[in-house]
Amino acid sequence: MAAQKVEECHMPRKNTLWVDDATLSKDVSGKTYIVTGANSGVGLETTRQLIKQGGHVVMACRRVEAGEEVARDFTGLKGSYEVIGCDLADLASVRSFAESFRAKHTLLHGLMCNAGAVIMGSEAKYSKDGFEMTMAASFWGHFLLTELLLEPLKAAAPSRVGILSSVVHANSPAKRYAVNFDDIDWKTRKYSAFDAYGEAKVANVLYGVELADRLNGTGVTTASIHPGWARSNFGRGSGFLMDTLFTVLRPLTHFMSDSNWASAQTSLHVLLSDDAPNHNGTYFSQSSVLYRDKECRDGGWPMASPNPNATDLEAARKLVDLAREKVGLS
Ligand SMILES: NC(=O)c1ccc[n+]([C@@H]2O[C@H](COP(=O)([O-])OP(=O)(O)OC[C@H]3O[C@@H](n4cnc5c(N)ncnc54)[C@H](OP(=O)(O)O)[C@@H]3O)[C@@H](O)[C@H]2O)c1
Repeated sequence: MAAQKVEECHMPRKNTLWVDDATLSKDVSGKTYIVTGANSGVGLETTRQLIKQGGHVVMACRRVEAGEEVARDFTGLKGSYEVIGCDLADLASVRSFAESFRAKHTLLHGLMCNAGAVIMGSEAKYSKDGFEMTMAASFWGHFLLTELLLEPLKAAAPSRVGILSSVVHANSPAKRYAVNFDDIDWKTRKYSAFDAYGEAKVANVLYGVELADRLNGTGVTTASIHPGWARSNFGRGSGFLMDTLFTVLRPLTHFMSDSNWASAQTSLHVLLSDDAPNHNGTYFSQSSVLYRDKECRDGGWPMASPNPNATDLEAARKLVDLAREKVGLS
């Protein structure tokens, strides 16, 4: 384990993967990063570490005040930050974020597409743009954001894009998730919040594959990420049932889950390690438990996704063509 002070002093799980000390002491002064969902959980710990190492982090937060509040803790760290509002489930907000960023910065060394949520309910909820909400926040918004930032990413090359997926994208060998091109917006199928999350997370891995292929040779590399089972705010606030489960189950699951700091390791590895760019477009998995697929259990940096629907370049290109149309880029 790196000699890094951990955000929680509880015993880390023995199979957590840790970034080495050399990587966590690299000086990244002069480099600019964007972390979406930087005010909470894995995104917050990723942000804090980048600032500790001298980076400038643009915190893309849906709630600016929440970003400002957590950032009070960054006083005295070597690097710097700014908070800019960005609701990934609102394309106008994503465009406005990208414009604000580009008005101030010409270089982007690392983009961490971290924000995500599972929108619970028995009926699909839709964003202003008409997208199913889980997919809107996890995929459509990040797709538009990344595409709008390709120029500063290329200008800063070597630069990196990390995309938070989840082991859930693999599901089980008996039921592999796939992007459903016939009904990507959940208009005709019976809605399942968990399946919507799984499909959105397949889209995240596929986009990493397509982007790596498209940007090959530009010096911009990509990776998709499963962070482990983080004791973050994930799922909190999405209804009475989930909130009760949170309160009741969290102490019981402590020994199986990871601190946010432990869960940020994979994102930090992807952004900072010398090795990550050698595995362009790959899925990196923090070790975790309760996988439905034992192939996923050990995790790895990198670790091939066991879900063939998440690595199919043709499907990835089809998704990107559709995404360009849906977010108004074509
Ligand atoms: N927790 C886990 O065990 C786990 C496992 C696998 C994958 N993941 C993935 O890891 C990533 C980080 O999650 P976390 O565990 O750190 O959860 P978290 O503590 O709930 O943090 C999620 C962040 O995403 C932001 N967010 C949600 N919807 C957004 C939107 N529409 N626009 C902008 N920001 C939005 C949240 O903002 P607000 O504070 O405003 O809500 C928050 O900052 C997610 O992509 C998640 O799917 C988590």
